[in-house]
Amino acid sequence: MKSSTTIYILVGIIVILTVGLIGLLLYNNNQPSPIRGILPISEIAPMEPDSEKWATNYPNQYSTLLKTETNDERTAYAGSNPFDKLEEDPRLVTLFAGYGFSKEYNEDRGHLNSQNDVERTARVGEATPGTCYSCKSSDNPRLWAEMGMAEYDKTPFMELASEINHSIGCANCHDSENMQLIVTNPALDEALQAQGFNWRDFTRQEMRTVVCANCHVEYYFKGDGKYLTFPWEDGTTIEDIATYYAELQFKDWEHPQSGAPMIKMQHPEYELFTANSTHYNAGVACADCHMPYTRDGAAKFSTHDVKSPLLNSENACGQCHTDVSYVVDRVSTIQNQVSETMIATEDALLAAIGAIEAAAAASGTDAGLLEEARWLHREAQLRWDFIAAENSMGFHNPEEALRILAAATNMARQSELKAVQAAGTPDVIQPETN
Ligand code: HEC
Ligand code: HEC
Ligand code: HEC
Ligand code: HEC
Repeated sequence: MKSSTTIYILVGIIVILTVGLIGLLLYNNNQPSPIRGILPISEIAPMEPDSEKWATNYPNQYSTLLKTETNDERTAYAGSNPFDKLEEDPRLVTLFAGYGFSKEYNEDRGHLNSQNDVERTARVGEATPGTCYSCKSSDNPRLWAEMGMAEYDKTPFMELASEINHSIGCANCHDSENMQLIVTNPALDEALQAQGFNWRDFTRQEMRTVVCANCHVEYYFKGDGKYLTFPWEDGTTIEDIATYYAELQFKDWEHPQSGAPMIKMQHPEYELFTANSTHYNAGVACADCHMPYTRDGAAKFSTHDVKSPLLNSENACGQCHTDVSYVVDRVSTIQNQVSETMIATEDALLAAIGAIEAAAAASGTDAGLLEEARWLHREAQLRWDFIAAENSMGFHNPEEALRILAAATNMARQSELKAVQAAGTPDVIQPETN
């Protein structure tokens, strides 16, 4: 074949390809914009608070969420039965003296009880701010969008009640438009920003943990407006949080016996879990254990029956661990160790409170040293409470839990010694009952 013929053929092919390509591009440009693979069966309004309205499209997620209302099984240290923690461990009555938690402190239960449980607790009264509803209702995302969080937090609890008609629901965790996991609590958004993070850049696996941090965190009410704030500016370890509160000279209440300015920890599951725990470092998320994939016939979905994984260990642990009974046994060993250590810390705290009270009543006590003893009581108790209020009895991060309890016990005993030094006599040491 002559080389000129080859060139003609090649040019011909290029022309045909180019024309074809242009045609294809033009044709594509005239296409309607892409549509979703699966059309929603029914349109769900943005921030729709009523989970039942999401149910037509997502029946399995809804029906499993419903189970959280009636779950009532307890485990050794947790579970869904709202047992009385004060009866279980009477030391708590003294540790929380002068504060609501000494009147009533029940074990937490399933998500669909959140509205009911917060409204009937003895800790709520006339002075309670609306902020207390922040992690209890699927009406919040809508209200925060309408009122702004500052206004929401300023509104008294009793007044806000008429707007709150639902427990936790789909709108707390999902964008109804595309079902993506989202940060709905403005306080979490602000706390992440303060640390230089933007949750919109997080991976899906990260969001399977961060979505729980909308609520399962330590927080406080800032200023007269009771503005919901996470104390994360210095970081999220217990030392970072203690430093933050110390710089602010913040207190939740004053202990009537020791006179110390106290901090009550809320439920720092997120902070404890993310403090270098084995599972967090391995990339495991909250949802892996608490919302494992489940099958119903051909459907495979994340169970929304969020509860103790010990009540669902085959699904919760079995997806990664082949020997489920071994790891469940490990949970028991870890929790027993943490519980035993925690009670030793409580005894040390009670000793500090007793010694400070006696030193304050004695004559000639050094006021400066007594203040130091009080500050040590505060610091010891907030560390202890970080582990006590956290709901896994140490399992989420066993090493960190034991480290913190050791530090707390040490500080409590230092507090007791300071009280002795302040009074100038060991007579202030109280006999220990056990
Ligand atoms: C590796 C599995 C695992 C991961 C990951 C995990 N948890 Fe847990 N969680 C547990 C176990 C086990 C318990 C203890 C349950 C018990 O004692 O009955 C628990 C307990 C809890 C409880 C108390 C349960 C109850 O019955 O009252 C809450 C709340 C909780 N976890 C929230 C979280 C949050 C939020 C995260 C992420 C920040 C998380 N968990 C990550 C396994 C896990
Ligand atoms: C406490 C937070 C939370 C609530 C409340 C919640 N979800 Fe989810 N949902 C999740 C998480 C976490 C996943 C896992 C997402 C992932 O893996 O990307 C999920 C996944 C889903 C998915 C994707 C498919 C699947 O099962 O993994 C759908 C659909 C869904 N949820 C619907 C709902 C509906 C409907 C409601 C209300 C009835 C609801 N969710 C309430 C946290 C929540
Ligand atoms: C909108 C706030 C909110 C979000 C988001 C949220 N929780 Fe909760 N969670 C709560 C509250 C409040 C309770 C306690 C309800 C009660 O006792 O009435 C609770 C209870 C629980 C319990 C104890 C259930 C039982 O039966 O004892 C577990 C476990 C739990 N949450 C895990 C998670 C996990 C995992 C995520 C993220 C996927 C998550 N939660 C997201 C507010 C929230
Ligand atoms: C998504 C995967 C995943 C799930 C789900 C999971 N684990 Fe793990 N687990 C790991 C990984 C990864 C490690 C790190 C050690 C390893 O590589 O085996 C680990 C380690 C452990 C260890 C040893 C901890 C240590 O510090 O040595 C225990 C105990 C454990 N898991 C218990 C559980 C229990 C109980 C559950 C269910 C409630 C569970 N795990 C669910 C992935 C998982």
